[in-house]
Amino acid sequence: MKVLVLGGTQFVGRHIVEVALGRGHEVTLFNRGRTAPGLFPDAEELHGDRDGGLHPLEGRTWDAVVDVNGYVPRVVQQSTGLLRGAVDHYTFISTISVYSERAAGMDESATLSRLADQAAEEQTQETYGPLKVLCEEVVQDVFADRAAIVRPGIVAGPYDDTDRFTYWPVRVADGGEVLAPGTPERPVQFIDARDLAEWTLKMTDERRGGVYNATGPEYDLTMGGFLGDCNAVTGGGARFEWVPDEFLLSYGLQPSDLPLAVRSSEVAWFMVDCSRAIAAGLSYRPLADTIRDMLEWVRSTGRRLNAGLSPQQEAELLERWRRSAQ
Ligand SMILES: NC(=O)c1ccc[n+]([C@@H]2O[C@H](COP(=O)([O-])OP(=O)(O)OC[C@H]3O[C@@H](n4cnc5c(N)ncnc54)[C@H](OP(=O)(O)O)[C@@H]3O)[C@@H](O)[C@H]2O)c1
Repeated sequence: MKVLVLGGTQFVGRHIVEVALGRGHEVTLFNRGRTAPGLFPDAEELHGDRDGGLHPLEGRTWDAVVDVNGYVPRVVQQSTGLLRGAVDHYTFISTISVYSERAAGMDESATLSRLADQAAEEQTQETYGPLKVLCEEVVQDVFADRAAIVRPGIVAGPYDDTDRFTYWPVRVADGGEVLAPGTPERPVQFIDARDLAEWTLKMTDERRGGVYNATGPEYDLTMGGFLGDCNAVTGGGARFEWVPDEFLLSYGLQPSDLPLAVRSSEVAWFMVDCSRAIAAGLSYRPLADTIRDMLEWVRSTGRRLNAGLSPQQEAELLERWRRSAQ
């Protein structure tokens, strides 16, 4: 199969390209050639800016396109317009941030966010979701049942530079007393980028259409369960001190300071129902594999994490928590 990937060299797209090549597909990448040029010697690389510079794609055809880096509807209109007659199937990577509701267990019919300013294009925390909604609609208008809309939750895996998942295996592996946010019962969801990529390519191979939440795991995972798995994988040397949100927030901590953890009132934000994707073949590797692989990735790359508490911050917070509890 001939597959065009818009993007493909950073994180989510990079895994999609790896899986596509692994399946023996003929892969073309379209990007500006700035992020990791030459990363995939077995793929064709076409360079241009997708906003106004799609001409290298003109006159070409593919069986399918996977659009990983669409954020602005005006720009997605350009790719759908050009590819309308050039590809059979269009997969658009969206996000669960499209939802405006806060209820737990939302399926794909939950209410979507709408932009207050229809002309807004700037990416902010507020506009990211509603802009993705408009991008999805552009793709659906052109490709109808030949469009797959994939809505991932937090994505974990090698090359993730947010470290929202990664902080926890790394911190737990260091052992000792670990500041754990809120309560052990708090639900968490995320998906391994490699599982997401496998399933996305399966959808593409089968030319499946529709809208799908795509996060994991397939069972109800809690923060306590996740940290327990991190401890089991890394040798069991950590002890968890569960500190209430109110206490943490009173010290001005931001969500990225304690990734995957949000205030209890907002937990439902991130909990979606993925049964439609699972019925369409989404499957998950064991969580222990993702934990182990992320530790190995951090150790082999020597990266400094972009999320989480520093050891000093954590020790200070724990000390203050203990004093307040006396
Ligand atoms: N990470 C998460 O937790 C998460 C959660 C939910 C949804 N998502 C979605 O998953 C996707 C993540 O994407 P990714 O960044 O990991 O994808 P990626 O495809 O691996 O990397 C981004 C690609 O876009 C290219 N690019 C950037 N600007 C461009 C432009 N103006 N014209 C042409 N190419 C351009 C970059 O190459 P050049 O720089 O060389 O152009 C790069 O190849 C997004 O759609 C995001 O909304 C992510």
